[in-house]
Amino acid sequence: MNSRGILIAGNWKMNNGPAATGKFFSELKERAAQAMPGESLELFRNGKLKACIIPPYLSLSRALEAAKMLSFPVEIAAQNAHWEKSGAFTGEVSGQLLAELGLSWVLTGHSERRQFFGDTDETVRKRTESLLTQNFKVIACIGETRAEREAGQTEQVLTRQLRGLFPSAESGASVYLDGRLVLAYEPVWAIGTGLTATPEQAEEAHRIVRRFLSEQVDTSAAEKAQVLYGGSVTPENVNSLLACPNVDGALVGGASLKPESYLALLVAGVHAAAGR
Ligand code: 13P
Repeated sequence: MNSRGILIAGNWKMNNGPAATGKFFSELKERAAQAMPGESLELFRNGKLKACIIPPYLSLSRALEAAKMLSFPVEIAAQNAHWEKSGAFTGEVSGQLLAELGLSWVLTGHSERRQFFGDTDETVRKRTESLLTQNFKVIACIGETRAEREAGQTEQVLTRQLRGLFPSAESGASVYLDGRLVLAYEPVWAIGTGLTATPEQAEEAHRIVRRFLSEQVDTSAAEKAQVLYGGSVTPENVNSLLACPNVDGALVGGASLKPESYLALLVAGVHAAAGR
């Protein structure tokens, strides 16, 4: 039993343009009318269940508009944002620009940003800290590579990434403590590979995250912070992952692209949230 609730977030990465986004939400609406369990509305209302879709920038406006047609709330998040509010940063998007669109959620530190686009522990912290200060809710990702896991370095890597993410106590760490920061454990070896972490592996990593928060940050923040699991989550394996006491939801790539599988994940979220 805890008060954290369940979050089912779909990271669309570089998929689903505006037209596909519109189609996704209208199909989701139709399917949800049939398949969404009755108790879900109460769970959404009391904050025990949250749904989130993270489309590419170009589809954000369409998603914000289309999500309003649903009978349940779906938060829309951006996949990244720069730490500065404006300026000469060609190709970047700031929190200020996203807020103007009506967004209040952003993802930071995804391993694909770290692997392919030069994000480091330091730039992930700058993005996360700036967005939290601007009042966003942030889902910050961490996770070890296959080589790091095989070398027995999982705890060390997660601890390094977490330490990098949190500012020193003097520099305004309080924005990190009010429940707006969600952490996502995404082992790199499980992303897009069909190799999911076992529930035991996920629970063990989530415990490392919560222990870090409790020892290095704040005990009550540790109890409040949602920690999501990501990496080849599907409607088939989601129940066993959500059954882990320290897994507070899922961050899903491939299986969130189609309304039928995203809805199946949400339905699993309803059952898990009802049991917490
Ligand atoms: P997959 O679910 O496609 O493995 O992607 C996970 C992920 O990276 C979500 O952010």
